[in-house]
Parts: sequence; structure tokens; C-alpha cells
Amino acid sequence: MGKRDFLALADFTPEEIWAILERSVELKREWMATGSNPPLLRGKRMAMVFQKPSLRTRVSFELAMEHLGGYAFYLGPQEIGLGKREAISDVARVLSGYVDVIMARVFDHAHIEELARWASVPVINGLSDYNHPCQALADGLTIYESFGRIQGLKIVFVGDGNNVAVSLMHLAAKLGAHFVFSGPEGYDPPEKAWKLAETFAQQSGATLHIERDPFKAVEDADVIYTDTWVSMGQEAEAEKRMQVFPPYQVNARLVARAKPTAIVMHCLPAHRGYEITDEVMDGPQSVVFRQAHNRLHAQKGLLAEMFEQWNA
Ligand code: CP
Ligand code: NVA
Repeated sequence: MGKRDFLALADFTPEEIWAILERSVELKREWMATGSNPPLLRGKRMAMVFQKPSLRTRVSFELAMEHLGGYAFYLGPQEIGLGKREAISDVARVLSGYVDVIMARVFDHAHIEELARWASVPVINGLSDYNHPCQALADGLTIYESFGRIQGLKIVFVGDGNNVAVSLMHLAAKLGAHFVFSGPEGYDPPEKAWKLAETFAQQSGATLHIERDPFKAVEDADVIYTDTWVSMGQEAEAEKRMQVFPPYQVNARLVARAKPTAIVMHCLPAHRGYEITDEVMDGPQSVVFRQAHNRLHAQKGLLAEMFEQWNA
């Protein structure tokens, strides 16, 4: 059997996604209770390739490997020049001789697919311009911890239909939640991602809607989620984006329209005063820091499943 990558939630069944989430819960519980996990990844080595900056993805993967007895090292944008200093196919084949898994953060999603095609070891997508599946795992874990379920919840993404929105939408559609996107016209999640979500929703009983009015969108919401209006690589569009997104700010007035039990999520980094106010981010309904910490636990769950199940 060939190796299996983690490039998109779309490639995994609801059962496989749940297996990662349950594994993450277990590893988190054990870590919180005892300060350690078994060395499931003893002797395994990870290369972490970054074309863009990172705090959470870099630190949480490095520590996830350490907690499970493995080893990870960082290769920044200046170091290997993925596709610039050296062809992606060559980088993939060279690294495959040194490490057991490659995690990469890239601009163009086609580049992570190319890396995976040429690598003989599994590749993990640590964010591309198209999606951010590791973030969605931590999001799923956080929502599951908060409500004891994901199925049937109303999850509203307010803002830009970006990489984080795509993976959250696919998580919701795979696991039977009701997903609403609320953002300005012209900034919906890509058509291809929406069509895929519709096929998952048919299987799971999830629903998918677009609602331009954010106040209508968040009515009865269990989860309000937002992210930056200007993603990494979109800096040239910043001025235009700053003009169209302000009606989609997640502020106290908007949050008040959701269920009183609703949680507010953000993948971070946040731009306080833009897509989210201080009041909301530091308020009682915000779970953003637990969500960030869950990157560590969700990625341990992912790595455990990756090596013990799909690449055993
Ligand atoms: N949420 C997230 O991926 O954060 P970083 O960009 O800091 O890794
Ligand atoms: N949408 C953001 C997410 C950062 C984790 C970006 O791509 O910059």
C-alpha cells in the first residue's frame, strides 16, 4: 500500500476524521493529567518547510513530535527556496531520504500536491492558499469539547471565504453540521470547494448556505468564526479589502444576535479592531486561546493516526 498524505479533509471519511478527533481528546487528556504521552513516534523525524511565517503551526508541530518521542526541525523561507533555489520534485526526493514525514506551508496549493506526489514519505499540509486542514482539526476538537458533538450545530463563518473557511466548511459538511458563510459578494469560498462541500453534505445531512447579512447569518448560531481580511500573500489587495470587510466585523453587537451559549472562534493571528474587537476576543464567549492550544493536541492525534493507521 502506498503512503497516505494529509493535504485536505476532503480526502478523509467522516469516520477517519472522528478517529483523529477522538485520538486527540485521548492524548490531550493524558497530557493534561500526567504531563506526558507514550513515545508513539519514537525515532520518527519531521521536516517542517515554511514559505510563509507561522507561530502556532510551527511551534505546535515541533512540540507534538517532541511529546510523542519524535524529532522535528524547521526550514524557513530563506533556507531551501522551495521551487526557487531547487525544484519541488528534487526537494521532495531529497527530504524523503532524511525524514519520515514532511509538513509544509506553501502559497500555491498545487505546490503541496507536487511535493506530496514526489515525496516517498507522507506530506502534511500546514496551510496553502486554498485550505488549512490542520487548523480545521483543532477547530473540530474545540467545538467537540465545547458542545460534546458537532453534528447538528450551526457554524457561521463571518468574513473572507479563505483557506481557513474552506477547511472549516469541509469539516462541517463531513460531520453533519449546518454551515453558513457570511461575507461580501466576490469573497465567497471558491466554487470548487463549495461544490465538494455539497457532495459531503448530501452524505452527512449537513446544510450549506450563504447569507450576505451577518446579523441574519448569526441568528441561532452555536459557533461564530472569523479570520483575517487579508491573508498572507494578499498584501497588494489590502487597501481594497479594508473597504469591503468592515460590515463583517465580529463585535459585541453581532455576537449578541447568536445563541447565548455560542462560542467565538478565530484561527489567529487576529487583527484586533478589524475582523474582531478586543471586547469579543477577550470576552466570555471567546475560545480562541484554547483553540490555539488545541493545535498541539489535534496534531498529535493526526500524527498518531497517520503512523499507526494509514501509514502503518
Ligand atoms: N492559525 C495558524 O495557522 O497560525 P500560524 O500562522 O501562526 O501558524
Ligand atoms: N487566512 C490566514 C490564516 C493564517 C493562519 C492566512 O492565510 O494568512
